[in-house]
Amino acid sequence: MSTPLTSKRDSFGSKIGVIAAVSGSAIGLGNIWRFPYVTGENGGGAFLLVYLSFILLIGIPVMLSEFVIGRRSQRNTVGAFKKLAPRTPWHIVGFLGIIASFVILAFYTTVSGWTLEYLFISIKNGFSGKSEADLVTQFNTFTSSGLRPVLWQLLFMFFTAFIVFKGIKNGIEKYTKILMPILLLIIIALCIRSVTLPDAGKGLTFLFRPDFSKITGKVLLEALGQAFFSLSIGMGTLITYSSYINKKENLSTAAISISLADTLIAVLAGVAIFPAVFAFGISPNEGPSLVFITLPLIFDQMIGGYFFSLIFFILLSIAALTSTISILEVAVAYLSEELHISRKKATIAASLAISVFGIGSTMSLGSWNWLSINGLSLFDCFDKLSANILLPLGGLLIVIFVGWFLGKDQVFDEISNGGKLKARLRWVYLFIIKFIAPIAIALVFLNSIGLFL
Ligand code: PHE
Repeated sequence: MSTPLTSKRDSFGSKIGVIAAVSGSAIGLGNIWRFPYVTGENGGGAFLLVYLSFILLIGIPVMLSEFVIGRRSQRNTVGAFKKLAPRTPWHIVGFLGIIASFVILAFYTTVSGWTLEYLFISIKNGFSGKSEADLVTQFNTFTSSGLRPVLWQLLFMFFTAFIVFKGIKNGIEKYTKILMPILLLIIIALCIRSVTLPDAGKGLTFLFRPDFSKITGKVLLEALGQAFFSLSIGMGTLITYSSYINKKENLSTAAISISLADTLIAVLAGVAIFPAVFAFGISPNEGPSLVFITLPLIFDQMIGGYFFSLIFFILLSIAALTSTISILEVAVAYLSEELHISRKKATIAASLAISVFGIGSTMSLGSWNWLSINGLSLFDCFDKLSANILLPLGGLLIVIFVGWFLGKDQVFDEISNGGKLKARLRWVYLFIIKFIAPIAIALVFLNSIGLFL
């Protein structure tokens, strides 16, 4: 098999490149917008504990499994399964990932559009002096106003398509290396301001003191979904990305360090948000608006708040962008490699199709509120369907594939780089993907439809 460095496919130039690009995919709105809002809705501390356990027990092994499939096959998600398991139906897992990429982008670009609007408001200093009630009204008026959020969304989709179109190496790697560490610093500054607000202790108690009576089947499923969503696993994003990784990379340490970095950012976002939520008397189960109401209040209380909010929303937009490009790349790599459509046409076609769903998602929060299922807006449906169903289902099939179909020899060969690395934990990893992870995911699914609890 040719290495990606000598083949015609793009590849990441260096180790930091891989880590930067995959972290760029993982770190995004999932950490800073979704994690706090889902944690708030699911009762805080107990949810966090379950979430962290799922990251360790299921998330890291699924991530490594995607790396194994991607780097071994050096193909897009569908092609990877076709190559490793020819003449079997396994490539359906790849198609599931393509569907997930459409569903996720449809609502993710809605929220990315909000981020651009908030950047715009920051530039105009439009949060200054606003009360909590003002900010709620501002958020609701904007998100339900129709044209404006749709325009931001389409602009964001355009940026995404532009970078994907330019190709992996130039497009993706460059943006992540310097900017993510700066984002981390700003989040730390936010944490410091937040925990020094009056009554901040209540927020920390909410986040870190588990109340086990709050754990229900739904909480388990939401924690699993959030773990998958945040790590970008279960839909072939990382299969696609790792197909560009060169053979010398240590996949296991990459999976562990990326997962830990991603989790650190999410927890820090929680530390920044919840003390402020309690200090300002916001309800923690506010839903998707939580962060967009809380953050401006914190900035308003900070020395240099104008400057911080500006940089923050710029970086958050970029963090969202490095995630959306990784999602779009799944569909584009498939279309161009399997259906032999040019990269340019593939990018345009996929982006247009996604935009149609995306407009539906954004408009479902405003005048098209008939776009709802069981009282949940299309936006919420896409959010929950992808995180809580499609990604864990994809992850379940991926670990079964790697654990039971690929088998021990191929797996060990891949994670040890053909015997060059020790890969000490390989037996632990194999045991987890054969038994623990699939059983745990299946139990969470069955439990959430009320089979046990
Ligand atoms: N992990 C990304 C985030 O946290 C979202 C994402 C999900 C990206 C699935 C790729 C695949 O924002």
